[in-house]
Amino acid sequence: MKVKVSRKAHFNAAHRLHNPALSDSENEELFGKCNNPNWHGHNYDVIATVKGTIDPKTGYVIDMKVLKDIMNEEVIDRFDHRNLNLDVDDFQAMNPTAENIAVVIWNRMRKRLNDNLELSIILYETERNFVEYSGE
Ligand code: NI
Repeated sequence: MKVKVSRKAHFNAAHRLHNPALSDSENEELFGKCNNPNWHGHNYDVIATVKGTIDPKTGYVIDMKVLKDIMNEEVIDRFDHRNLNLDVDDFQAMNPTAENIAVVIWNRMRKRLNDNLELSIILYETERNFVEYSGE
């Protein structure tokens, strides 16, 4: 009997999508407004879902306080009000697309969770555009 437990969090961050191996015109063609050399921001929403069995001692899959602390420490404290390209080590050599941000968040949070719990990350870059990563 497995139950999914989710928490939603929010951060604002600036980024630029750019592949230095490509020409300026190719970058503009590929990334459009997200290639703006003077940066731009997004209001990101992140939903972390933890799936597991209910602990008979507590009645919890995971203590929400624990999940909140992990999200704050691994995601919000590192990304909120930052320039992802310049301020966050994970993106020094990796384009901060929604896909890559979701993978980075998953990898960071995965390390903090017990092995018997499954983790899935949904990242909204806009209200309409979102990506999901579950470690596959
Ligand atoms: Ni963008």
